[in-house]
Amino acid sequence: MSKHTQGSAKQVSTHTLMKYKGEGRKIVCLTAYDYSTAQIVDRAGVDVILVGDSLAMVALGHRTTHAVTMEEMLHHTRAVTRGVKSALVVADLPFMSYQVEVTQAITNAGRFIKEAEAHAVKLEGATPLSLEIVERLVGMGIPVMGHLGFTPQSIHGLGGTKVQGKTAEDAVKLIRDAKALEEAGAFSVVLEMVPKAVATILTEEMKIPTIGIGAGNGCDGQILVTDDLLGKFTDFQPRFVRRYANLSDLCTEAIGNYARDVKAKQFPDDSESFAISEEEELELRQLIAADMELKGELTC
Ligand code: KIV
Repeated sequence: MSKHTQGSAKQVSTHTLMKYKGEGRKIVCLTAYDYSTAQIVDRAGVDVILVGDSLAMVALGHRTTHAVTMEEMLHHTRAVTRGVKSALVVADLPFMSYQVEVTQAITNAGRFIKEAEAHAVKLEGATPLSLEIVERLVGMGIPVMGHLGFTPQSIHGLGGTKVQGKTAEDAVKLIRDAKALEEAGAFSVVLEMVPKAVATILTEEMKIPTIGIGAGNGCDGQILVTDDLLGKFTDFQPRFVRRYANLSDLCTEAIGNYARDVKAKQFPDDSESFAISEEEELELRQLIAADMELKGELTC
């Protein structure tokens, strides 16, 4: 083991994820939008960290994912990759950064790899254009994760946040789309808000791993938005979220305690402040007093 890698977990790759699917080892994925969160998620041993465009809502306060720009996504992805040692970092191609034409998609995907050091990109849907983009990116060595089911960038076209693939006919279309992504070279596909039975059958049909969010436990892996899991983002809580902490209340209480201590002059105490020696302090006071006296003489 080299000095550089000593003690640190091995880098997760798209090949690792394929291996995990083969072994039946579930793949653990979470989002991160900043350096310190990425460090925590990575240290906890999560396999894949997605810099999701959900950051538009969760980190930037927009109502949908649409508003986030390439520059903002790059900014957050850079912060995340600085904090990650072993997880595979996937960057979400934001709305309208790949839907216009193939060269636009290639340019933007390339920026995530070149400027932000992401390992892979994610895009939504399986239109003929998306499939061509996947094929071209994979051909140039950029791994692509697909995203099917409820695709938030199409929220208006889908008529709102709705479970997808509820009829046998819709489910067949979903499975065909997933297969098409696999054939185009995607290394994995996220299934969002898909009935458990449909996601399970789809997963059995696929060679590449499926990552579920609101798609039951038959998928090869699971992903959640970290701020949802930690109870930090509380604007809404989808049914598929399990909260493992209540950071919002915890943080509000901690910050309230800080405010109380500041107002009561109990923060900072001497252990949280810097000191000079008694002699230096005495000399400082004498110098100030002499200065005042001098100014007093001059004004007389
Ligand atoms: O943007 C995001 O966070 C996502 C996940 C919820 C899959 O796409």
